[in-house]
Amino acid sequence: MSPLLATSDKSFWHGFLDFYALHLPPKIDGAVIEFGVFKGHSIRWLIERFPEASITGADILPVQPEWPLHPRVRYRQMDQDDASQVVQVLAEVPGIQLIIEDGSHMPKHQSTCLKHGLQALQAGGTYILEDIHTSHPAHSLYQEEFGTRPAQTSLSVLLAFEHLLRSGRPLTPAVRDGLARGAHFDADDIESLFGAVASIHMFKRATLPTSCWRCGSSNFDYHAYRCECGVELMGAADSMTLVVKKRGSAA
Ligand SMILES: C[S@@+](CC[C@H](N)C(=O)[O-])C[C@H]1O[C@@H](n2cnc3c(N)ncnc32)[C@H](O)[C@@H]1O
Repeated sequence: MSPLLATSDKSFWHGFLDFYALHLPPKIDGAVIEFGVFKGHSIRWLIERFPEASITGADILPVQPEWPLHPRVRYRQMDQDDASQVVQVLAEVPGIQLIIEDGSHMPKHQSTCLKHGLQALQAGGTYILEDIHTSHPAHSLYQEEFGTRPAQTSLSVLLAFEHLLRSGRPLTPAVRDGLARGAHFDADDIESLFGAVASIHMFKRATLPTSCWRCGSSNFDYHAYRCECGVELMGAADSMTLVVKKRGSAA
């Protein structure tokens, strides 16, 4: 994968890149949206990886000096906490073939973007929900929203869908209603999301990261599964990403 991503935590910490290489479309002649720009690493890579795509970077921040300026790239300041802004950003972009959701990582925001993003995506398009481990009950962002109680999130719902699809089971009304218990998706959302999904591929890092996200060191205390600075290297809720393919084929 591109050296442009060498400095991204997608590479040195999460180890997502080989997985993405398997699931990204070979080419895109429509639109790409990435929620979450940060320093613009991923936007630089998208410019190179999809030379025919028009690219939107959506972030709560205004345009930053280090973000790449390019004729095929536009930026949109928005807040994932406001569903109407998510809908608006998606509506402004015709022909969306790829959405990468790498924004706040708050479970509620992940669900808002998934619900509206999958709807806006073209038939046959690809939706990447990056860092979905923040919706795992062991993660602090999950605990901020739900405490210690079991809760409906994008992770629980998409894992359920993957399980149903893999085992060839239908979404019965009873399963749908069970999945609809929660604040993020109602029964209609569950029904329409399930109907839209062709496949779901899940990645969870099973090896040590290349280097530490906090201090950059590769000096690890191997028996403690910690970096020398103390960061945990193999947390239960770490380095998980999901690729969802939408049904149908592009027009
Ligand atoms: C993980 S970084 C994005 C990294 C980038 N995708 C990359 O791989 O190079 C997360 C970004 O989400 C943005 N963000 C945080 N909260 C947000 C919100 N409520 N709405 C929109 N963007 C948000 C942050 O400003 C930050 O730039």
